[in-house]
Amino acid sequence: MGHVQDAAAGAAAGDASQRNDIVLRPPTAADGAAVWDLVAACRPLDQNSLYMNLIQCSHFADTCVVAERDGAIVGWVSGHVPPNQPDAYFLWQVAVGENGRGRGLATRMIDDLFARDALKHARTLITTITPGNAASWALFRGFAKSRGAALRDQPWFDKDEHFAGRHDTEHLVTIGPLPAASASPDMSTTRKESLT
Ligand SMILES: CC(C)(COP(=O)(O)OP(=O)(O)OC[C@H]1O[C@@H](n2cnc3c(N)ncnc32)[C@H](O)[C@@H]1OP(=O)(O)O)[C@@H](O)C(=O)NCCC(=O)NCCS
Repeated sequence: MGHVQDAAAGAAAGDASQRNDIVLRPPTAADGAAVWDLVAACRPLDQNSLYMNLIQCSHFADTCVVAERDGAIVGWVSGHVPPNQPDAYFLWQVAVGENGRGRGLATRMIDDLFARDALKHARTLITTITPGNAASWALFRGFAKSRGAALRDQPWFDKDEHFAGRHDTEHLVTIGPLPAASASPDMSTTRKESLT
């Protein structure tokens, strides 16, 4: 799926992608370094190589989003459709710069992704969360509620077995079944962002 179709899907979703001077769009390779910097500033996110961010910003642009304000990247979501699960979306990392948090931007970026053609077949959102990441749990519980979907979790990548004690256990979180692409989220439960 190309960016032209993405743009059309975004337009169909209304002006939501340009509210309050923050533009949501698929990344390009030119965003890679700024994405790397944002992730570095958003603990406890793992820092990966800049090269990996460049691959996400190019090969996986249709399933990633950047939030741009005045030319600066202030938000980022990376993810992909798992090769063996074409009806799912795996959300890898979500990051919002510290100054922009608590105003609904992360929620808005995920909604933007699910309005795209690239995710029209996605009926399950998959992600991983460490037990102590309260903001992340709240974000995904809110997403599940807004879609009327169940959230389930279980330990997946274990601190000792998989991370050799170097990283907290990541819980596999699945949210679904999600309504078909044409269905809008229940805005009464979707946080309204109020960036000024
Ligand atoms: C997680 C993160 C992306 C949330 O971004 P955000 O734009 O502030 O999120 P939203 O404003 O859309 O809020 C979503 C929900 O989380 C809640 N929330 C946000 N920050 C919170 C916090 N620190 N503690 C508890 N709940 C929090 C909000 O109240 C909202 O819940 P509601 O809809 O019930 O009101 C941001 O805190 C961040 O970048 N953290 C560092 C990186 C990280 O941990 N990423 C997640 C792991 S991949």
